[in-house]
Amino acid sequence: MRVIIENTPQQVAQWTARYIVEQIRLKSKLTSSPFVLGLPTGSTPLETYKELIRLYKAGEVSFKNVITFNMDEYVGLPEEHPESYHSFMWNNFFRHINIIPENVNILNGNAEDLVKECADYEARIEEAGGIDLFMGGVGEDGHLAFNEPFSSLQSRTRIKTLTTDTIQVNARFFGGDTRLVPKTALTVGVATVLSAKKVVILATGHKKARAVRHGVEGGYNHQWTISALQVHPSGIIVCDDAAAEELRVSTYRYFKDIEKDTLI
Ligand code: GLP
Repeated sequence: MRVIIENTPQQVAQWTARYIVEQIRLKSKLTSSPFVLGLPTGSTPLETYKELIRLYKAGEVSFKNVITFNMDEYVGLPEEHPESYHSFMWNNFFRHINIIPENVNILNGNAEDLVKECADYEARIEEAGGIDLFMGGVGEDGHLAFNEPFSSLQSRTRIKTLTTDTIQVNARFFGGDTRLVPKTALTVGVATVLSAKKVVILATGHKKARAVRHGVEGGYNHQWTISALQVHPSGIIVCDDAAAEELRVSTYRYFKDIEKDTLI
């Protein structure tokens, strides 16, 4: 696992956006097949989306040959609801770039048959050739996508019940009212994320420090699903200093030293 420690959330976004652009460029040089990008919602990736939009507008990257798959979506929230992950993605990213709308995949939390929706989603990922790069955030309790603590590390896309902790944390998007937060969501599984060729998890701010510590220094375990990254052949955590605060000094120094000359 690589751990990139930057000073600020803005630098985390710059590093990540540059890394994604580089991967898209590399693949386009080798093949005409689309680049398949897995994407998260949440406040952490917002800066990265802004930076990707900036790079797109500067002519540094095109999303014409990119297919996206989002990590998760609430169950039962209308797509046009301002807090649905559909709205989030279109407002904060897709409508600002040249992505082809048909290439955007987001789970349908209003599907009649939710089990089938999840199975079809996995099939669509496979049809697209698998995910080249999955970007993700992390919850305060270490969850990846909506894979709450004690989720199976072999899990695939499915329905999950949200924990009280997650509902409370996400209530900020629903006027602070926990009753308005959906209680279930569709989410890619831990194994869906790990099947991607590359995985990049972002963590910024002190409230993510525990998750980073468990993900980097803790054992591989289902309580902190971020720890599953340890068994991925190409997993990267990109964090700021505040999120790295609970790492041991020696761990912090190790990663600062080993990454000091790597540009990307
Ligand atoms: C939600 C999302 C996760 C995200 C997490 C943290 O639970 N399902 O994908 O990583 O929130 O969000 P934030 O970046 O806002 O802290």
